[in-house]
Order: sequence, then C-alpha cells, then structure tokens
Amino acid sequence: MTALLEDKVCVVTGANRGIGRAVARLFVAEGACVYACARRDGSLDALVGDCGPERLVPLYFDVTDTKGMKAAFLQVRKEQGRLDALVNNAGIMKDALIGMIAPELVSEVFEVNVSATIAALQFAAGLMRRQGSGSIINFSSIVGVEGVAGQAVYAASKGAVVALTKAAAKELAPQGVRVNAVAPGFIDTDLFRSIGEKRVEGASGNVGMGRLGTPDDVARACAFLASDLSDYVTGQILGIDGSARV
Ligand SMILES: NC(=O)c1ccc[n+]([C@@H]2O[C@H](COP(=O)([O-])OP(=O)(O)OC[C@H]3O[C@@H](n4cnc5c(N)ncnc54)[C@H](OP(=O)(O)O)[C@@H]3O)[C@@H](O)[C@H]2O)c1
Repeated sequence: MTALLEDKVCVVTGANRGIGRAVARLFVAEGACVYACARRDGSLDALVGDCGPERLVPLYFDVTDTKGMKAAFLQVRKEQGRLDALVNNAGIMKDALIGMIAPELVSEVFEVNVSATIAALQFAAGLMRRQGSGSIINFSSIVGVEGVAGQAVYAASKGAVVALTKAAAKELAPQGVRVNAVAPGFIDTDLFRSIGEKRVEGASGNVGMGRLGTPDDVARACAFLASDLSDYVTGQILGIDGSARV
C-alpha cells in the first residue's frame, strides 16, 4: 500500500516544536519530502536526525522576513521544481484585555499570524499554479471562529485567516490549488500552556471528549488536507477540538 503523501513535496512553517513538528514528522512518515522551516539556527537538528536529511530539509528564516521566506521558496523550486503542500503553521498568541491593547502588540500578532501567512500563501500559490495542483493549509483557531474574552487581538488575527482562506480558495480553485484552514481547539503545546495552569485546567474541563488535543491530532487532519483524499475539498475551516467550548 502506498503512503498517504508518497513523494509529495511539502513546506511546513514553525516546524521546530509544537504542532508544526508533529506535522513535519507525520508527513515524512507518510512518504513526503518536507522542507521544515524555523527561525532559530540549529533548532531543527534533532528533527533532521530523526527523519533523515534526504526526507527533511531544514530552512531557517523568520516568517516576518519576506526576503528570507522568498529565498526559502526559491530553494524548494530549484531543488524540486514543484510544491504539493504548504502548512502555514507558525503563529503566536498574545493576550490583552480591551483597553490595554497596545498598537505594538496588534502589529506583532498580525505580522506573524496574518501578513506572514499571506506571504507564504503567495509564494506557494506561485509554484502551485504553474503545476495546476497543490494544497495550502492555513492555521486559524477555535478562537478565530468563536471568539473568546481576553484574546481580541489573537481572535481577530485568526478570524482574518478564516476570511483569507475562503477568499484564496475561490481565487485559486480554477488553477487547481486548494486552500483550507484548520481551527484547533485546546492543543497541548507551549503556546496553549502559556495561558497558565489554572486556565489550562479550566479549558480541559470544557472539552466534550474529555481530553486536551495533541499535536498529532492536528497533524493527522493536516495530512488529510495535504493528501489526494481531500482533492475536492477547498475553502473549508476544519475544527479539530474534540467538541471544545471557549
Ligand atoms: N496550541 C493550541 O491550542 C492552538 C490552538 C489553535 C490554534 N493554534 C495555532 O497552531 C499553530 C501552532 O501552534 P503551537 O501550539 O504549536 O505553538 P508553539 O508550540 O508556540 O509553536 C509555534 C511555532 O511557531 C514558530 N514561530 C512563531 N513566530 C515565528 C516567526 N516570527 N518566525 C518563524 N517561526 C515562528 C515558533 O518558533 P520558535 O520556537 O522560534 O518560537 C514555533 O515553531 C499556531 O498558528 C497557533 O496559533 C494552536
């Protein structure tokens, strides 16, 4: 039986930890060649060691550095001549109550979660349009769909990703390029744990399925969206939340 992502060329941002690392690992296990992106030199060494340098190629750049990002996509084009999937995972979460929201915080969150997501989508779409196929997976959040008190900025950035995904899916469908987003709930990573122990406990009690999500739960949904199993699925926002309430 062939693997789900046999010989697909994929780019995964934020691949050094959390959900992005789980995605990169699973994609390699499913037969893909993964260009794993991170901003800190050497932070992908362990992953390269686990997956093998012929299957996992590290690319180092900050996603807010458009020149660095462009060079990375040019390297993929030069080495592979194609791109089958982009997992636009890198993101940050910063909380601020209304009345306490500094403009700098808005810029920082939107630069990473929205502007960099658009930049990567554009570079990927450039390659995918030429070949007439490809799957772009953006990262929204349950918070971007439902909203939550105390996270107006983060929620707005992830809501923008929903709108971006739907608009880009319509624009790129005629060229065979699919664009979907995942909207994870409470996934046990550094980002989620940064809300503090008390809120982590509260959130866990608000999941219908009775447990926090794992990075692998999200990675499996991404594998489906990157694979040909979803080849007629576009413009969708896929919740991965075990029936969580925010
Ligand atoms: N965990 C959840 O419950 C949850 C729920 C909904 C949505 N999400 C979304 O899922 C995605 C992954 O989250 P996670 O929980 O895995 O978070 P995480 O553990 O904090 O990992 C975030 C990743 O993004 C990278 N990153 C952040 N800013 C970057 C930048 N400027 N340039 C390059 N890389 C950057 C980080 O790199 P460094 O290691 O260098 O910081 C890290 O690899 C995010 O988009 C997040 O908003 C998460």
